[in-house]
Amino acid sequence: MILESIENFAKLFLEEIKNPIHIISHFDTDGITSAAILCKTLERLNKQFSIKIIKQLTQTEIDLFPKEKTIILLDLGSGSIDLLALKNKIFIIDHHEINKNIPFNVSIINPHLLEEYEELCTAELTYLFSKSISKENKNLSHLAIIGMIGDTMEKEINKTRDKIIKEADVKIKCGLLIYPSTRPLDKTLEYSSRPFIPGVTGDSKGTFELLKEAGIEKTNKNFKTLIDLTEEEMKRLTTSIMLRLSSKEYKDYLGNLYLIKFFNKIEDAREISAIINACSRMGKSEISLMLCLGNLTARKKAERLYMKYRQHIISGLRFIEKNEKIQGRDYVIINAKDKIKDTLIGTLASIISFSQVYKEGTIIIAMAYDEDKIKISARLAGRNKSNQNLKEVIDSIACAIEGESGGHKRAAGCTIKKEYEDKFIELVKKKFEFEVVKI
Ligand code: C5P
Repeated sequence: MILESIENFAKLFLEEIKNPIHIISHFDTDGITSAAILCKTLERLNKQFSIKIIKQLTQTEIDLFPKEKTIILLDLGSGSIDLLALKNKIFIIDHHEINKNIPFNVSIINPHLLEEYEELCTAELTYLFSKSISKENKNLSHLAIIGMIGDTMEKEINKTRDKIIKEADVKIKCGLLIYPSTRPLDKTLEYSSRPFIPGVTGDSKGTFELLKEAGIEKTNKNFKTLIDLTEEEMKRLTTSIMLRLSSKEYKDYLGNLYLIKFFNKIEDAREISAIINACSRMGKSEISLMLCLGNLTARKKAERLYMKYRQHIISGLRFIEKNEKIQGRDYVIINAKDKIKDTLIGTLASIISFSQVYKEGTIIIAMAYDEDKIKISARLAGRNKSNQNLKEVIDSIACAIEGESGGHKRAAGCTIKKEYEDKFIELVKKKFEFEVVKI
């Protein structure tokens, strides 16, 4: 079913290919890997194109579409489909939720539009599209795997995904889902934000204590990597980490490690995905893209940026811990202003929501400046089901102050003008204090 609709889409695309092509892709790992697959596909067709990587498809971005070009949107567009009835021919490959009124100028692949829904990320869809154009593109399957891991979809292996995994020659190893699994363990643990290990994350002394307790010692100059541990060592390390996490949380971090070939070396797909995401969030999406395209210089730059990114995350967490927050009964507002990058605030809000800093169900609202705007990320602490729908909450507040918002039940976000900073905080307080009274 999905393959049939992809083949039809590819046919339409090949008919359009004589026109100049402009690719617009989302800046996260799924968007970047999708863009890399499409770039390679067009290159192999000897087709020239231009490309832009963006954080969000706003009206301003839509107004900037080059008028004379065919547009292809990757990992974007479904949420803004109503705004895309334009003169341009537009192709969309995306997996986000969508309303069903598709404008005439738009051709789209989105699993939500099919009768039989199968969960696939944009990189997987782009890979299937690319493979339907030429079998030669089968060697791009590792990028589909990295995109899928980036969108944390590896726990649901459906028929199509299973086939892609086989095509990508992935090696799967059962163990702790802490990454990177191919770097020395002391660094892996100290920088681990998922899980956030109390007394270990961000604490080198605590990390050494944990390794000592697990009986893991340095071999030569460094500690072993996770994938090099013996079964016995893996068991001891798992126990030591388990003692520091809640049993519910712990279960989430046991599973399969996906090992792929990247730059001719076996790598943890999680790690590569994290590097791509980090470069983009540090404002260097072009490096992420070049890395996916196999550029060696980009690889070196990406490693350095990744290091910097992890330091930013750790110092962001420290900043949040030490600075004043607006604390209500069931919510907390963290207003980082210009002290944390807008592209990192969502990641930090997620890390805090997974840690045990706030009680289950607390609404975490984190804010950071983005030039004349404010980026806001909302998350629900813990992992239990809650009746709270963050998307509805954020939509209702953003809509009162001309903000652009979206997301889903447990993770939502919006962008507002800076002049509405106080008003936004006031509306959040009103909303939740009113809800408390209502209860
Ligand atoms: O950016 P963040 O990770 O906080 O986003 C959480 C969710 O909210 C994502 O699904 C994102 O696409 C959505 N969002 C949105 N519009 C915004 C900000 C976030 O749709 N302005």
